Amino acid sequence: MSASNTLSKAEIITAVSVSVGAAAVGILIYRTICKKDTCVKPKVNLDLQKDNPKVVHAFDIEDIGDKAVYCRCWRSKKFPYCDGAHAKHNQETGDNVGPLIIKRKEA
Ligand code: FES
Repeated sequence: MSASNTLSKAEIITAVSVSVGAAAVGILIYRTICKKDTCVKPKVNLDLQKDNPKVVHAFDIEDIGDKAVYCRCWRSKKFPYCDGAHAKHNQETGDNVGPLIIKRKEA
């Protein structure tokens, strides 16, 4: 390796300083632009009942029967019931969500 291919100590210090400075400026810009009220946070509910201020479902225990499977990923076409859409969601996002299963104890 020739001497022209190696970085001097001063060049390394300069490169590290510029990198750290650029990172610091980036963080400052991000914090300035992305304040709590201006940044959009990801939503769980993408399209269900968006005209309602809050989506709520209530069931009487007596009406559930022996078993009910409820969606917790918000991707089911049968919401609030699970239709298995969580599997695709998990595969696409690396998430690990699954349904809530309520069942009667086996006697
Ligand atoms: S489809 Fe949402 S948890 Fe199964």
